[in-house]
Amino acid sequence: MAEDRNALRVTCTAPVNIAVVKYWGKRNADLILPINSSLSVTLHQNQLKSTTSVTASQYFKQDRIWINGKEENIKNPRLQICLREVRRLARKRRNSGDENSNTLILNHKVHIYSVNNFPTAAGLASSAAGYACLVYALAKLYGLEGELSEIARQGSGSACRSMYGGFVQWIMGVKEDGSDSIAQQIEPETHWPELRILVFVVNAEQKPISSTAGMQASVKTSPLLKHRAEIVPNRMMEMITAIKQRDFESFGQLTMKDSNQFHATCLDTFPPIFYLNEISKCIINLVHSYNNHFEKTLVAYTFDAGPNAVIYTLEQHVNEFVEVVKHSFPPEENGEQFLKGLPVNSVPLSESLKSSIHMNPNKGGIRYIIHTQVGPGPQLIEDLNHHLIREDELAKH
Ligand code: DP6
Repeated sequence: MAEDRNALRVTCTAPVNIAVVKYWGKRNADLILPINSSLSVTLHQNQLKSTTSVTASQYFKQDRIWINGKEENIKNPRLQICLREVRRLARKRRNSGDENSNTLILNHKVHIYSVNNFPTAAGLASSAAGYACLVYALAKLYGLEGELSEIARQGSGSACRSMYGGFVQWIMGVKEDGSDSIAQQIEPETHWPELRILVFVVNAEQKPISSTAGMQASVKTSPLLKHRAEIVPNRMMEMITAIKQRDFESFGQLTMKDSNQFHATCLDTFPPIFYLNEISKCIINLVHSYNNHFEKTLVAYTFDAGPNAVIYTLEQHVNEFVEVVKHSFPPEENGEQFLKGLPVNSVPLSESLKSSIHMNPNKGGIRYIIHTQVGPGPQLIEDLNHHLIREDELAKH
């Protein structure tokens, strides 16, 4: 095939987000409309990000996508919806005379290359970062600006929150067409500079049921989930206040209670769904023992649809809490690097703290820890060296 030197290409990155008020359950599965609003913190892309390059060329015969180097089925309905909706929006803007929209290429097919800089084994919301990145990159390709979270939401619900940095709420909305079910930034990433996030990747034997299937089962069978939908509006207000006031005591307590309630609805689902394993439960106990020792909430846990823990804490507690974790979950000697991301320094633990957190050490229970902080939303990458599609590769395809 001929090389198209005029092919347009755009590269973007997008972040992972971790909810502190969880989204669980859809009222409309086609449009991905949730039964409750949710709220998340955007993690920094220096540690965790998706990168996506998109190219449009008159020589491409069909849309194609490669994820982490492997070609995936472009006919995936959620991918199709995102492609269709971004193109529809671009056409709409063209028809309304928006000069920004780069609509000459609207009839060209696109090639999409996407990679994550974190292992899929980390069990993190890779679909949220991936869909946010795809929608953002396509929008940049077509010169679209403005609200895009409504489209990202239709790729994966939680992806709409990855369209912004900092502290983000996904307002559930009331309209049937979903046009008011969008994400909104509550505070930017600079709002609470001391906040830190520790992702604990635990050893898990089995792959849990996907969040899409899990929440569908919960909506069908869990009476507790209906009750939860009534509780969340108030919890959202409390959480927003805690964030605005940088009140870690309230923020941490609400985060843990909401995670526990989400997992309680999983247990209330019939047949029950277990995302937490024995290691997750040990981490929960460890966090409570640590907080009890200081008679304050210094660290808080949250768990998504898997056994990995995400810990929120403040910068000044990171070194000591990680030391406590190393004491309780000694790293495997021949294992991979245990601490990744921002630096963590080793500190001595007092005997009284050690006796407060006493538990039988669980060697290798935690595979590794990623230390990160709150970060910005999707970014356009100007440096051509970061394109996932190079000129010579373009010629090959
Ligand atoms: C437990 O966004 O992955 O992480 O909309 O079906 O793609 P779909 O589900 P997804 O669900 C995320 C669920 C969660 C909680 C959260 O992120 O709010």
